[in-house]
Amino acid sequence: MNYPSWTIEGLGSGWLIGLIAITHVFISHFAVGAGIFVPVTEYFARKHNRQDVLDFLHHHTRFFLILTAVFGASSGVGIWFSISLVQPAATASLIRTFVFAWGIEWMVFLVEVTSLIFYYYGWNKMKPELHQKIGWIYAVTAYCSLVIINGILTFMLTPGAWIENRSFWSGFFNPSYFPSLLLRTTVTFALAGLWGIYQASRLDRDHPLRTWMLRYSSRWLIPSYLVSGVFLFWYIQVIPGESLTAMTQGITGAGAGNLSILTRVAMLVGLLTLTIAFMVLFGPYLNPTDFTAKKAIWLLVSGFIVTGAAEWSREVLRKPYAIRGFMFSNGLLAQEADEKLKQPFFEHARWARLHGDVGSAMFKTQCSSCHTLNGYRALTGYLKGRDQESIYNFLTILQKGEENPYRFIMPPVLGSDDDLKALASFLEKEVKAVETPETAAK
Ligand code: HEC
Repeated sequence: MNYPSWTIEGLGSGWLIGLIAITHVFISHFAVGAGIFVPVTEYFARKHNRQDVLDFLHHHTRFFLILTAVFGASSGVGIWFSISLVQPAATASLIRTFVFAWGIEWMVFLVEVTSLIFYYYGWNKMKPELHQKIGWIYAVTAYCSLVIINGILTFMLTPGAWIENRSFWSGFFNPSYFPSLLLRTTVTFALAGLWGIYQASRLDRDHPLRTWMLRYSSRWLIPSYLVSGVFLFWYIQVIPGESLTAMTQGITGAGAGNLSILTRVAMLVGLLTLTIAFMVLFGPYLNPTDFTAKKAIWLLVSGFIVTGAAEWSREVLRKPYAIRGFMFSNGLLAQEADEKLKQPFFEHARWARLHGDVGSAMFKTQCSSCHTLNGYRALTGYLKGRDQESIYNFLTILQKGEENPYRFIMPPVLGSDDDLKALASFLEKEVKAVETPETAAK
């Protein structure tokens, strides 16, 4: 609450981060997988003297160079821009806690891109041993990015002992660190396999490499998908209980539309994952000749949907927090919530004054990190048909601590009685404007 807030109507601020982040996750896991796939395949190709495989790899290294150095890097920086504008307080906390991890990550990424550039331009120019060595550097640094960033990502959902001791290591190697790292590792292998399948499927049907490459790439994907189930199971064990309840049962008693959509998305992830594994088994692996590039594109699209949906679920599990148990999504520190609960809002949220009268400032500062007025998770939709009095009553429920049924999905609302009335009046006006646009315009 110590920063001005940036409200995005329509899409909602969460989705701005979400869209950039999901794209980045897909690209970066792809890049890590490829970083391992390409040098490992080069190693086997050299061992078995397969010049055709080496040519194939050479030809496709360019794609990874562009993917990693252009799209990976720019979407990564895009995350920084979006999180620091939408979630300044949480971003500041993450920087304070993990500044060295990020510093190391930037160094590692620099080495990754540099080695990839040498690797790409070095094909057929360097001695094979040297080229292979640079390939290993590329592989190790690509994987190191995951090793580092995974610590920060998992921290937000399961900060573990950090909440008490504020130690870097407790936060970094938090309870979900290892299951998440292993799970993501399998995802990177599977994505690398998908890429290989796609590229091989584009070769001419009678190209001698086609069948070999399709089978080889399938071998990266199928086992990874099978073991990923084990890591996913482990991961679910370490996730906080109340998040899981929300996931499996929805917010029972919390009224209309609830989070059980998360259950459905989680099922979609599971089913689609299995489908991909079977499609690969019966497609490129067992019937490589019948397998077409069109089918491969469908596999890639499914892969994107699974990755996106899985990341989305993980983000939803974290609600109502940005950093679980420490800071809510709207920047409120959990330990300050009680003390500030019924104080006049403007007294402690100084920047909120920038956003006009108390009512609209309350909405922008306290609700807009998760809701919009008329777009995604629209308050005018949830509050349809309610008048000021009934909205006010709803807001008082959000102040009821243990008796508040929404406490696992929304932060408590801060403000004196007058503030809540002002917010209710602001929201009522917005609801009316939607219901009867003509009267509102007058
Ligand atoms: C941490 C994110 C978050 C914040 C901040 C937040 N909400 Fe919510 N809110 C949710 C979620 C998630 C739902 C459930 C949506 C669903 O089930 O589809 C919800 C549901 C609601 C509903 C519908 C309740 C029902 O019974 O159907 C209302 C009304 C609402 N919020 C109002 C507010 C107001 C007013 C604020 C600001 C004071 C606020 N919310 C702040 C996440 C948040």
